[in-house]
Amino acid sequence: MNTLVIDHLSKHFGGVAALSDVSMQVPPGRIVGLIGPNGAGKTTLINLITGLLTVSSGRIRFGDLDVTHAPAHVVARAGLARTFQNIRLLTEASVVDNVMIGFYRREHSSSLASLLGLRSAHRETREIRDRALALLDRFEMRHLADEEAGSLAYGHQRRVEMMRAMASDPSTVLFDEPVAGMNDVEAGQLGDIFRGLALEGRGVLLIEHNIRFVTRLCDHVYVLDSGRLIAEGTPAEVTSHPDVITAYLGQPRRKEGG
Ligand SMILES: Nc1ncnc2c1ncn2[C@@H]1O[C@H](COP(=O)(O)OP(=O)(O)OP(=O)(O)O)[C@@H](O)[C@H]1O
Ligand SMILES: [Mg+2]
Repeated sequence: MNTLVIDHLSKHFGGVAALSDVSMQVPPGRIVGLIGPNGAGKTTLINLITGLLTVSSGRIRFGDLDVTHAPAHVVARAGLARTFQNIRLLTEASVVDNVMIGFYRREHSSSLASLLGLRSAHRETREIRDRALALLDRFEMRHLADEEAGSLAYGHQRRVEMMRAMASDPSTVLFDEPVAGMNDVEAGQLGDIFRGLALEGRGVLLIEHNIRFVTRLCDHVYVLDSGRLIAEGTPAEVTSHPDVITAYLGQPRRKEGG
């Protein structure tokens, strides 16, 4: 299992510094929180890690691998998966098909065979369907397996995204505001699922605006404001930090989504 290490990372968009000199770590088996107001740079950080944006300066390592300039598919193959703040599903495909796509992304050698209709490919498709259904069980979504993904409630669509990310069996997973738009019961269920992922030895980076959710789940929390890390530590340490109270807790409640 690998530790994700962010080392003095910066990102500029033209003259705008979206991230400045950010260092942090996500060890295996831990749920690490990342909080901060709108525009703090949280999503930018995930986009840099996963190869969707190019790094301006600094390094990103995953275990022994330097992924600073690695393209997205290399990062994914190294065992890093993510979800998107804006849900990206095949809305007209079924829930189980959306999850199966996650498996095919990992095992793309077999997709040619399945296109050609080989018998081994049929068997493989059945196996992948079974594994997708097992993930649906874990996320308590089995009863929605054959529904059109786009017809689901927002919270359920988020779960489909998470299952698709988990289908690649990542050793570390980055969740961008996974409980946005969910009620407390749904968020609590997801919290249990995240704990399970960490117990299996996976690293979890949890970007959230819901402070209660973060403080309940995380061992270690980082706080970003205007692209800079202004605090880190245990949930109790960061939530009592004066800069955090001013920068984050002091500001009016944000809108969900984004
Ligand atoms: N592709 C881009 N081009 C130009 N500026 C960008 C781009 N992506 C992000 N930014 C800017 O970088 C800053 C950080 O944005 P980012 O989306 O990372 O914030 P965030 O912490 O995820 O906010 P939110 O809580 O609203 O999701 C913002 O000022 C944003 O406008
Ligand atoms: Mg964001």
